[in-house]
Amino acid sequence: THVVTENCINCKHTDCVEVCPVDCFHEGPNFLVIDPDECIDCTLCVDECPVDAIYAEGDVPAEQSVFVTINAELARQWPVITTKVAALDDAAAWDGKPGKRGLLIR
Ligand code: F3S
Repeated sequence: THVVTENCINCKHTDCVEVCPVDCFHEGPNFLVIDPDECIDCTLCVDECPVDAIYAEGDVPAEQSVFVTINAELARQWPVITTKVAALDDAAAWDGKPGKRGLLIR
């Protein structure tokens, strides 16, 4: 599977959802997750994300490994999103900011 990681938080550009052939993205207030049971590892979303937040599970940086579980858990709770929506306000300013995981709204 592929995994959405910390840098999506408070950016949520949603370009990723437009290219997903299996509609595996789920939307929360300030973050998206991938359903690991639906993702087919096509990799199309990886290059679409303007802030490089999506990794193959095997390439998730060690300090971000918690996001593997977070994606699986929240995909069961959040609704599917298949159409791009406006990025969050100040998305550009949040790109690359450290410590965003504490700001994840469930
Ligand atoms: Fe997030 Fe990047 Fe998609 S910021 S919503 S993973 S395009």
